[in-house]
Amino acid sequence: MRRARISSVGGYVPPGVLTNDDLSKMVETNDKWIVERTGIRERHIADAHTATSDMAILAAQEALERRGIAANEIDAIILCTVTPDMQFPATACLVQERLGATKAWGFDLSAACSGFLYGLTTAAHLVAAGTHRYVLVVGADTMSRILDYQDRATCILFGDGAGAFLVEPANEGEDIGFIGHLNQIDGSGAESLCMPAGGSRLPSSADTVANRLHYVKQEGNQVFKFAVRKMQEVCEEVLVRNGFSGSDVKLLIPHQANRRIIMATAERLGLPLEQVIINLDKYGNTTAATIPLATRDAVCSGKLEKGDLVLFAAVGAGYTAGAVLWRWG
Ligand SMILES: CC(C)(COP(=O)(O)OP(=O)(O)OC[C@H]1O[C@@H](n2cnc3c(N)ncnc32)[C@H](O)[C@@H]1OP(=O)(O)O)[C@@H](O)C(=O)NCCC(=O)NCCS
Repeated sequence: MRRARISSVGGYVPPGVLTNDDLSKMVETNDKWIVERTGIRERHIADAHTATSDMAILAAQEALERRGIAANEIDAIILCTVTPDMQFPATACLVQERLGATKAWGFDLSAACSGFLYGLTTAAHLVAAGTHRYVLVVGADTMSRILDYQDRATCILFGDGAGAFLVEPANEGEDIGFIGHLNQIDGSGAESLCMPAGGSRLPSSADTVANRLHYVKQEGNQVFKFAVRKMQEVCEEVLVRNGFSGSDVKLLIPHQANRRIIMATAERLGLPLEQVIINLDKYGNTTAATIPLATRDAVCSGKLEKGDLVLFAAVGAGYTAGAVLWRWG
């Protein structure tokens, strides 16, 4: 078995910014409520011509440039999203073609806010199997296309963006790379966070549009309680299973849904704020893109050094959940 390492990171957010004050002109809300309850101050929103694949490509290109490899060297593309350009073909196909990843295969992965961690786990195993050298994992979501800007409890939470990791084999003998994962699904939460229409259960019709069923529906309080409990649980469990405790973790890079969920997890693990990446104040919840965007921020601000123990964690619609441990480098 070869050990997989994260060799590069890229990201992209569209230039348009939607602040809390902007939202307060659209729905009955205010900056103070949003900041206190979520930690979010602003989010980036794609213009009408930008779709998920467009942002995914820009994030992927940045990761490839940083690593200095060409797109035609990629063996596989895992595109994590709940807002594909179309129901089919997979957005991975659109990205493959426009990137020029001529020898890659790939697929879309739908696990909402945990999508990127599922993709990262899959990439680590494709590389470990020895069958793939370069696997590109992209998390990209254009949440603004499925948000109801009349529903103040959901439209304030999300933003648009994309992030990418390149995963490849570590050098033999080097103690860096993938350590372990703990990913879960719990479908009992399926109705607590979903987009009801547009699939085979409730195909698009004039009625589904009139009833606003093509938008994110969320029981915020239910999801919040589940997320706080589950995020702590998967983090503690993945550490114990791999012989570590909270004090071994150098950096927690969590999914960026709500500052209170992140702080509760950090507290449980005994991690001070300096060892936690929080950037949701700038981007909101970009669904599959939060973890690579937060990692990119950590790299750019010099918070990650070779050999650091990094804990990635997420909880999302499904319910889905995951925690993945890596030694950085
Ligand atoms: C959405 C969320 C911020 C709401 O915070 P909360 O503290 O749970 O608030 P509640 O839903 O209990 O609502 C409290 C009150 O605020 C109101 N409210 C909701 N959204 C509001 C907004 N944007 N501005 C002002 N008031 C708002 C509610 O209507 C409610 O009013 P009421 O008491 O008169 O009925 C919170 O539930 C949350 O973050 N949930 C998880 C979301 C998430 O992470 N989703 C992605 C999963 S990865």
